[in-house]
Amino acid sequence: MTIQFKPDETFREDFTYSNSDAAVLRFPFPFPEDVYMYSVNIEPHVPGGPTPAFDNPFDVDEHYVAECRERAKVLEQDPSRCKVLPHMMAAQWDTLELIMESFAASYPAHFTLTREGTNWTWENRPLGIRDSFVFGDASTLPLPPFEYITRQAQGDFTLQDQREDNLFVDGGMVTTQADWSMDFNVGMTFHQWHGPVPLAHEKGVFDRALKFLLRLQFGAPVRRLNWTMTVNPRLDTSPENYPQWGPDRTTLTADNIGAKLHLRVELQSLFRLPRSNAILFGIRCYLCSIEDLARVEVWGKRLHRVLRDLHPDIADYKGTTRYRDLAVAYLAAFDDGAALPSGT
Ligand code: HEM
Repeated sequence: MTIQFKPDETFREDFTYSNSDAAVLRFPFPFPEDVYMYSVNIEPHVPGGPTPAFDNPFDVDEHYVAECRERAKVLEQDPSRCKVLPHMMAAQWDTLELIMESFAASYPAHFTLTREGTNWTWENRPLGIRDSFVFGDASTLPLPPFEYITRQAQGDFTLQDQREDNLFVDGGMVTTQADWSMDFNVGMTFHQWHGPVPLAHEKGVFDRALKFLLRLQFGAPVRRLNWTMTVNPRLDTSPENYPQWGPDRTTLTADNIGAKLHLRVELQSLFRLPRSNAILFGIRCYLCSIEDLARVEVWGKRLHRVLRDLHPDIADYKGTTRYRDLAVAYLAAFDDGAALPSGT
């Protein structure tokens, strides 16, 4: 399959990002019910799902080239967005192998991996990269292996080391995050980095999720969806840059909210890695304006109901409180109140 990339899109300043009709239809809409509450919504990460976004281990779409360029810009301004602790070198190579093999198998028109023993050649045609290197010898790559490969993938990635019956976030490439900081979280445990999340701790969500992940098997990855909302199609909504994007919330009006307010969905995947026994966590971010989403009848109705009835603590945590009423009023026009089936 050949993907038509849109290399000139931007995710800042003039915000020229937009979704083609096909990209709207493949959006991983996250609400199977009219009401949303935190849960351990983990399922096997196998091909197939409500849209083609679920078909491959790592999804590549029309925004690929532009997103890689945006990542390079963030890293140029703030290299601390990529951080890996020294004991995670085996996990770095595991990640490089997994992403290269997956990309080459899923998108042979765009990526090729040639292996002769430990002599590997990687071709990434959309980004114009061709490198030969020795697998396991970091001096033969232009960048450390984790940074090298995650600069060539959409979405954020973190590396969890497993020890003491816990997971420690001991590395990550985090440039497209929903208001959390890799630099701040590095070295934390599963419950520590989830500390700020409301309601889920007392419901036992994190206890159950951690137990599940500690038993995650190599070759049997899992996935879940998470969501929030972002004003303008901005990928880098980091705490470090809050002064740049926080004030955007004050710019919404009844006239512009349909185009400016975006549902931000993370298709999160978790892979056990073979040499390091670490877990790779992929956070693949999708943005779609609520105006575009409402073109799909079921999605417009459902988003209206979810936002209208969202628990205030969750609405607040996701930073939507200031504009939620405006968004609900906009979406109400698409909702006739008819019952919807479960699923997306
Ligand atoms: C939120 C990281 C796995 C459920 C978060 C946050 C981070 C994070 C950094 C934001 C916390 C903040 O506000 O500072 C990770 C990492 C994971 C992981 C690195 C890899 C192991 C999971 C799993 C679940 C989960 C398996 C399953 C229940 C949640 C929920 C939120 C959250 C419900 C709140 C999201 C929201 O309302 O926007 N996670 N997480 N996480 N995480 Fe995880």
